[in-house]
Amino acid sequence: MFRTCFMLIGLIALFSCCVKQELKTCTSDSSLAGQADFPIGAAADPLLFSSDSIYRHLFFSQFSSATAENSFKPAYLHPEENTYQWNEADEFVSQCRSHQMRVHGHTLIWHQQNPQWMNAFAGSSEQWEQMMKSHIVSIVRYFRPTVLSWDVVNEAFNEDGSLRNTIWLQHVGSSYIEKAFMFARQASPEAKLFYNDYGLETNPAKRKAVLAFLNHLRLKGVPIDGIGLQMHIDIKYADASMIEEAIYEVAQNGYDVHLSEVDISLNPRGKDYLLNAKDLQAQAELMHKIVRAYRNIPLHQQFGITFWGISDRYSWIRTTYNRSDYPLLFDDQYQPKPIYCQLKQAL
Ligand code: XIL
Repeated sequence: MFRTCFMLIGLIALFSCCVKQELKTCTSDSSLAGQADFPIGAAADPLLFSSDSIYRHLFFSQFSSATAENSFKPAYLHPEENTYQWNEADEFVSQCRSHQMRVHGHTLIWHQQNPQWMNAFAGSSEQWEQMMKSHIVSIVRYFRPTVLSWDVVNEAFNEDGSLRNTIWLQHVGSSYIEKAFMFARQASPEAKLFYNDYGLETNPAKRKAVLAFLNHLRLKGVPIDGIGLQMHIDIKYADASMIEEAIYEVAQNGYDVHLSEVDISLNPRGKDYLLNAKDLQAQAELMHKIVRAYRNIPLHQQFGITFWGISDRYSWIRTTYNRSDYPLLFDDQYQPKPIYCQLKQAL
């Protein structure tokens, strides 16, 4: 009896050890993109390409879709009212294209990272609208036909589903969102146009308000092709079933779904934190569930999954929130983490 019991325990231990082993170790010899039916992307900082060859190598070898982490934002592209600065974005686009990567434009209209002149623009609501139009049309036209998808409006809603009080709302009025999409469409008849936001995946009230708002615009003929669920989530508060529901709901409403800025924080409360295997495992499992759900929506609505960075080493979470955290696929030494291995397995 005892012997059988010990053998059984031994077997269970052996099994769980091997399962764990299998989950934990994998190599990045083959690419993530090669494994997937839909584009797998990452946000990157082109300035790091020349200073960090491993970063550069991983970006161009693992992913099939590219978003510039900052270089396409208004403060970078449009530093003065009559001056556009294309160099950094151009270089990014040309490097990505030479590696056959799709480039997604992020972002045209936002309340952050705007140039000073834009925030301080003095003019009537007609002049504001004209300024917004010229900003959108110039940028979308410039990158046509290489950049064929855009986050046209980013983060326009508050947590309770009301419209965020941005310069655009204040000066153009609540029609700024539909106008932004119309202008982008005028500049590029073929581009996929996205509304992008955070919290839609974990806050049903916000998601429902945004869907109601966008559906209403669509009924009026406003060209909104897809919704970007940013997915800055964490292992403590994010609930997998809630996220699954969000992915299905956005797809059922007829939008392409872009998981557009994925990272999964391990230390959302920002306390002293010791990295541990349990949390890495939780991160990997959450990713696994998200990918399974994503694969269940119709293929033609799977615009792709984009990670907001490559290695924990440069994650915006560390610098922006000043906390130790490990939200991405590769660790500080560029080794693939359990989340990478689980993602690969789930694709
Ligand atoms: C972040 C970048 O990662 C940082 O480098 C920058 O300092 C601030 O912006 N939502 C967005 C992204 O839509 O543009 C933000 O990117 C992260 C949150």
